[in-house]
Amino acid sequence: MNEINSPKIIVTRAIPTSVAKALSASFSVEFNFSDKPFTRDELKSAFQRFDGVLSTVSDNISENVLRIHNRRASILSNYGVGVSNIAIEYSKKIGLVVTNTPNVLTDATAEITLFLILAVSRRTSFLESKLRQQNWTGFSIVEDLGTSLNGKTLGIIGMGRIGQATARKVINSLGMRVVFFNRSPVARLNFDAIQFNTLDEVLECSDVVSIHAPGGALSPILSSKHFPIMKKSAFLINTARGDVVDQHALIYALKNNLISGAGLDVNLNEPEVPHGLLALNNVTLLPHVGSATKETREAMGMLAVNNLRAHFFNKNYPSRVV
Ligand code: DGY
Repeated sequence: MNEINSPKIIVTRAIPTSVAKALSASFSVEFNFSDKPFTRDELKSAFQRFDGVLSTVSDNISENVLRIHNRRASILSNYGVGVSNIAIEYSKKIGLVVTNTPNVLTDATAEITLFLILAVSRRTSFLESKLRQQNWTGFSIVEDLGTSLNGKTLGIIGMGRIGQATARKVINSLGMRVVFFNRSPVARLNFDAIQFNTLDEVLECSDVVSIHAPGGALSPILSSKHFPIMKKSAFLINTARGDVVDQHALIYALKNNLISGAGLDVNLNEPEVPHGLLALNNVTLLPHVGSATKETREAMGMLAVNNLRAHFFNKNYPSRVV
């Protein structure tokens, strides 16, 4: 197919060179080399001027963006597994195909979860900043102590692909035991884990709680009523989405020692991070890097390209959401 007849694709953010090459081999592509996020009007115009839009989890593809009279795009290929940034019900209504990039980021995200579990339980953010500020006065037997993880309980909320990969890694490498809450029964796990019927049961007995559920629900999974149920010594890990936890309630819980610390890769209104969190030294904060390895971002990109190829050439979608 020559350049003139190829479907026209617009990419909303900078992407790896290998992915750009693969995309250009099948499509006529407009890239965003500046990597500056599109405004709402630029997103609307993308859907008006191109056959397909390759966007990512930071692009807010709201109903407002999609409610345009002369939409040309028939597919939104999301560079990411989470689709809480996309008006999914409205996409269904208007017949817009939406695809995503599951599986290929499972291990990378589970690795970041493990990192955050270790970081908060050993207080490494606080300790490293003490060192960098030249406030370390030398080895101490009683200062700078963290919490051991071996034999402790990890409570997983959402036992999907990433929850399962996290469970396997903490059992095998940290010697933790795993309990979990999942809305539907989960059978045939290839590791030991106990499923509880209620979220509260998991919160009550866990030393670390890690959330692996999608965002975009009407209300957060963890709100102010949940923190008092948790152990005062517990740590909360969130590598899912900022909106799965009530941010004010979390800051209150951390400030008032309802829990011992938190490891957060995601925030409610990214890239904003509330001052209430930045000011706390029992929190490890990361800038949404769960899937941010070179290998993973390339694999995600190739999957996003293959979803576009499927849409325009054979309909054999590797991962279609709508
Ligand atoms: C996703 O894919 O949803 C991650 O949050 C970003 O890679």
